[in-house]
Amino acid sequence: MRKRLVIAIDGPSGTGKSTVAQRLAARLGYSYVESGAMYRALALLALETGADLRDAAALGKLAAEVDIRFESQGKDGNRLILNGRDVTEAVRSPEVTQTSSIVSVHAPVRQELVARQRALGRAGGVVMEGRDIGTQVFPDADLKIFLDASPEVRSERRYRDVAHSGPVTKSQVLQEIEERDRRDRERELSPLVPAADSIYIDTTHLTAEEVVERILGLVERRVRDI
Ligand code: DC
Repeated sequence: MRKRLVIAIDGPSGTGKSTVAQRLAARLGYSYVESGAMYRALALLALETGADLRDAAALGKLAAEVDIRFESQGKDGNRLILNGRDVTEAVRSPEVTQTSSIVSVHAPVRQELVARQRALGRAGGVVMEGRDIGTQVFPDADLKIFLDASPEVRSERRYRDVAHSGPVTKSQVLQEIEERDRRDRERELSPLVPAADSIYIDTTHLTAEEVVERILGLVERRVRDI
């Protein structure tokens, strides 16, 4: 039987990580885990319960108690279920997006969510995407990809994603993306950096399908090597 790999995909926002990881998982018959959705779910709960976003211990406790599940919809990705409630759309708001990056700096939050991510991927046959999958969550992943793109293209892609859900300008999107990326790259714990053994793909001039094809080629080679 072919070995079912653990594939880690990391990179900043707007590089097409989610689209690529989702399509790749569907092509391989693997499960797809969007680790950022877990930080987003926690952020939504923190906002709803009025938690202090600087209180690491309180947020860690919230993370330990919360029930977060992914319900697979096959090629349409996952629904995100927070304490029994479908929050797939709710976690995409600009406020939850910024808050997810804020709650993710705290050690107790990361410890809890990283443990859950490891449990979801342990059996293999998984494509997991995020910021620290290749460096922290699965340092022994079979294949590590780091996706990047120019800031202009990343904010253009993000703008297309969010424009339909409310009034927002391109310059607002660019500013938000820069602020969040800076926090994700400069935080003390598990900052966004490519793993030393990751394969770097610049997606600035590539379509999502081209990126998927390129990674599928790497998967084939990796399976042959094992
Ligand atoms: O991938 P995303 O945009 O849905 O992630 C939302 C935030 O969650 C991101 O700004 C930082 C945090 N995050 C993280 O710290 N580690 C991960 N593995 C994934 C996301």
